[in-house]
Amino acid sequence: MNKYFNLPSPIPAALFSLNIRFLKRWEAIRFAIFKNHSVGDWEWPDWFSTPHNKGFFDTAEFQSAYSKSVEVAGFDYRIPWRVHQALWAAQSTTNLDGDIVEVGTGRGFIMAAVADWMSGAPTPQTKGVWLCDTFEPPDSEDSKKLSFSKYYATGPKDVIESFAPWPFVRFVVGNVYQTLPSQAPDKVSFLHLDLNDADAEVWVLGALSGRGSFRGLLLFWTITRIVGLKTNIAR
Ligand SMILES: C[S@@+](CC[C@H](N)C(=O)[O-])C[C@H]1O[C@@H](n2cnc3c(N)ncnc32)[C@H](O)[C@@H]1O
Repeated sequence: MNKYFNLPSPIPAALFSLNIRFLKRWEAIRFAIFKNHSVGDWEWPDWFSTPHNKGFFDTAEFQSAYSKSVEVAGFDYRIPWRVHQALWAAQSTTNLDGDIVEVGTGRGFIMAAVADWMSGAPTPQTKGVWLCDTFEPPDSEDSKKLSFSKYYATGPKDVIESFAPWPFVRFVVGNVYQTLPSQAPDKVSFLHLDLNDADAEVWVLGALSGRGSFRGLLLFWTITRIVGLKTNIAR
């Protein structure tokens, strides 16, 4: 018998479950192709489309946070889904013991949104936010790496100044292979890994969890593996 209906043999059960899987996939493709690939005025932001609800976009909370990101970074990266995920992660870990750490901050697009949300959150936030980066432009002749350089900081000073309104934010400036894990909080509740360097990200995760300081939510992106991007910062 199968779990959906009283079908007598495993063959119809398998066919039934294949059909369900096909229908689910078709539904996702249909939504991706024919509708729902826009958020606000943007088509395919984050290169992402989903049939799921995107009501988050119109909330005052999200709009405020996102506009802070644009203000701090100096231009709009058009990544509402990624900002939404970071906000969701920050909100979901509010009750966990530990601070928020971002490893790979660039100009601070994502964390400006998180800091804005924290400063207006319904319950006062006691967490610190640690931003770790060299805060320098990529040191490379490689065009693939340089095409990402507009997302990198031009120096620590500007980024530190941009985050001045949020006193709970602190900076760890330098190559993470040298600064971590010694310059990190004792407990981490939300870790955002965004180095564009898979090897370094794996190393950071090992370094933080190795000393038992990371017990919380990890957010990271798979693009590093897909484009094979590596920043030129010596280990
Ligand atoms: C994709 S950007 C980060 C984007 C950022 N999270 C944002 O919200 O815009 C990657 C960052 O990782 C930093 N980075 C890469 N390898 C590093 C290393 N070994 N040590 C410190 N920073 C590093 C680069 O300087 C760059 O700013």
